[in-house]
Amino acid sequence: MEPGTLLRRILLIIMFLRVSASSSAAARVNGSARLSCSKPCSGEVKCVYAKGHEILVIMCKQGSCVEGDAFKNRTELTFSEDGCCLQLNNIQYSDDGMYVFSCDKSELCRKSLDVLAPVPVHAAVGENVTFPCYAHTNKIIADRDIMYRCEKDGELVVALQQGNVLYGPGFDISRVSMSLDKYKNGDLSLTISNVQPSDAGTYRCVPGKECWGVTYTPEHVCALKDTSIDLSCSYKHPAGHTVIKSVWFFKEQAGVDPEDVREDKEYQGRVQYTQSSQNNCSLRITNLRERDSQTYRFRFYTDDPNGKYTGQPGVSLSVTGNAT
Ligand SMILES: *[C@@H]1O[C@H](CO)[C@@H](O)[C@H](O)[C@H]1NC(C)=O
Ligand SMILES: *[C@@H]1O[C@H](CO)[C@@H](O)[C@H](O)[C@H]1NC(C)=O
Ligand SMILES: *[C@@H]1O[C@H](CO)[C@@H](O)[C@H](O)[C@H]1NC(C)=O
Ligand SMILES: *[C@@H]1O[C@H](CO)[C@@H](O)[C@H](O)[C@H]1NC(C)=O
Repeated sequence: MEPGTLLRRILLIIMFLRVSASSSAAARVNGSARLSCSKPCSGEVKCVYAKGHEILVIMCKQGSCVEGDAFKNRTELTFSEDGCCLQLNNIQYSDDGMYVFSCDKSELCRKSLDVLAPVPVHAAVGENVTFPCYAHTNKIIADRDIMYRCEKDGELVVALQQGNVLYGPGFDISRVSMSLDKYKNGDLSLTISNVQPSDAGTYRCVPGKECWGVTYTPEHVCALKDTSIDLSCSYKHPAGHTVIKSVWFFKEQAGVDPEDVREDKEYQGRVQYTQSSQNNCSLRITNLRERDSQTYRFRFYTDDPNGKYTGQPGVSLSVTGNAT
């Protein structure tokens, strides 16, 4: 067999569909998850699963731990200077819910876990593939109130937001079908046409993921050459996530992390990240040149491996020569 033939013929695409609020962790059935609580405790640490009533997950004191019956042989609690981390293995669908950590009976943290049941979908390169999905949606919802987002391995595929359809890198209107009308009809199926090897991955579609966002104010900026400009935005993410890295960029390539504008040699010494408050993401560009006319986007990464977000549509900057 020719090398690569198999790869070209068969792709494994898995789709997670779920209607849920934001969560601090997501895991698959039979998979594992880590829920961390960054608050130290020197006494008795207890973690309970709270859904209606409380069920013991694990309790540790002076290095010896007891697991609850429903979690037998499936958990591990590790401690570090800044807190503890619960590892949950062999996840069951009924593990979905809220986990409450406490220290000597006083509450430390609450972490929610989303358990997802994967559906494998196979397709050959060049084919069209549809992930069927229907949900109870509001027939007469205003376009701007529709929030819907599909991701592949944490990266945007398509989103409905403020009355617009946005596409992620490598996807566009010719390849992805999703519309405000389909949404109102309760049809959230995602069709990808002309499937490519790079489309293989784990897809997840979530209605109403308004917990994640970047707002650019304004979205269009004009400036004169040789002056300076501040591109301003603010961002949000669900509670329980910590932002570990953020970048402004204008070049992007499917499947690769975008390049930080500070690393571009054209911008050396001319860009600065200015942050006035915690969720503010401003970029200052000095000594503007006409070729700085680009669309700049902000992307942030959190301590959750699936918690990465790029704000669309970005800020478009146009730099013009001096008026005469
Ligand atoms: C989970 O593991 C069980 C036992 O190995 C298996 O029967 C089941 O199909 C698995 N489920 C998924 C969704 O992988
Ligand atoms: C947990 O592991 C112990 C020791 O390997 C075993 O005896 C016990 O049956 C296991 N319990 C469950 C519920 O799997
Ligand atoms: C895939 O869908 C496109 C429209 O999006 C259509 O033009 C094309 O014929 C379809 N291809 C196959 C193989 O069904
Ligand atoms: C962010 O901070 C900059 C610089 O201090 C400020 O000019 C801008 O208005 C702030 N933007 C938002 C959205 O808070």
